[in-house]
Amino acid sequence: MAIVNDKQYLKQEQYQDSQNRTALRQARHTFQYEVIDAQAIPYADQTFDAVIANHMLYHVPNRPQALREIHRVLKPDGTFYATANSVRYFQEVYALIQEINPRAELRLFQTAFGFENGAAQVAESFNTVNSEAFDSALAITDSAPLFAYIQSTRHATWIQGQEPLFRQRVDREIQLHGAMPVTTSGGLITAQNDITTNCTWGANHHRPRW
Ligand SMILES: C[S@@+](CC[C@H](N)C(=O)[O-])C[C@H]1O[C@@H](n2cnc3c(N)ncnc32)[C@H](O)[C@@H]1O
Repeated sequence: MAIVNDKQYLKQEQYQDSQNRTALRQARHTFQYEVIDAQAIPYADQTFDAVIANHMLYHVPNRPQALREIHRVLKPDGTFYATANSVRYFQEVYALIQEINPRAELRLFQTAFGFENGAAQVAESFNTVNSEAFDSALAITDSAPLFAYIQSTRHATWIQGQEPLFRQRVDREIQLHGAMPVTTSGGLITAQNDITTNCTWGANHHRPRW
């Protein structure tokens, strides 16, 4: 379980947890479900065939420790899968926020663990790392839900009271081009500890471990 101080985030987490439990009860297979901290995984070495960490490693305060833990609980021929957003994720919207408020300090999750810098972090614990990019974008055709979404994030504070200006800029893009494109690219990082080869290097990577 995440160590979080933010009460609102914790409430969302509890809600998500109950939703997950309900969904798994309805599933056709039997699942064991548990909330744990990736930094201290309460399982023995070499327990799992696969570990999946989708869009979550950027939350973990001690990521190297979490990656060591994930490596520890994987079987020698197991695979680790992690997805992450690109540094380009939502860049058009962040540029707009910055334009409206040049003092905005946007702390972006993808700079902590993103698609581009994540593989190198994973390579600290695994000797075979590959990554596969997924390029994607939203076509925004209505400025209201985009503003509402930003209002629901930690960036809300930077555009407080600026709804008319924000929406005016987005609406202008929509009028000119039919939609405002917003990058949502990211990708999948996979890792193994290949016990037969000392080092196998994926297309883009990185720190050799030999
Ligand atoms: C953006 S959500 C992603 C959820 C899900 N994997 C998905 O892709 O829809 C981030 C998740 O990271 C989890 N998380 C944050 N810190 C964690 C930690 N230290 N150990 C395990 N999970 C953590 C949170 O519980 C939350 O469910």
